[in-house]
Amino acid sequence: MTKKLARTFLTIGLMSLILASPLSAQQDTENADPMQLARGAKAWAENCARCHNLRSPSDLDDEEWHVSVIHMRIRANLPKATADDIMAFLHASNRDQK
Ligand code: HEC
Repeated sequence: MTKKLARTFLTIGLMSLILASPLSAQQDTENADPMQLARGAKAWAENCARCHNLRSPSDLDDEEWHVSVIHMRIRANLPKATADDIMAFLHASNRDQK
């Protein structure tokens, strides 16, 4: 019984490690998932020029984009996942131009 319980906890522990790793990779734009950047670039082009001209990613730094995307996510009525993709794209695209 205790052995079975221990195995259950071990399984849960391993599962949360596996589930947590892609999440932490998303936070870190140095190791940004290329698929996320591709989704972000597409969503950015499709959504962020609906109401005004596209602002170049290099116009704002990471902190400014963070504030702006939270603001624009509400204006554009985007799901969080899409806003996260756009944020990752903007952070990755302005980095080298500063
Ligand atoms: C529904 C219309 C709409 C959409 C879609 C939209 N914007 Fe905006 N945006 C605005 C308006 C209106 C302003 C002027 C500021 C305000 O009144 O909110 C603005 C201002 C901005 C600014 C100026 C700084 C700021 O935060 O106010 C930036 C940068 C910006 N938008 C980026 C984006 C990005 C990136 C997206 C895509 C995620 C986006 N916008 C999508 C309406 C929109």
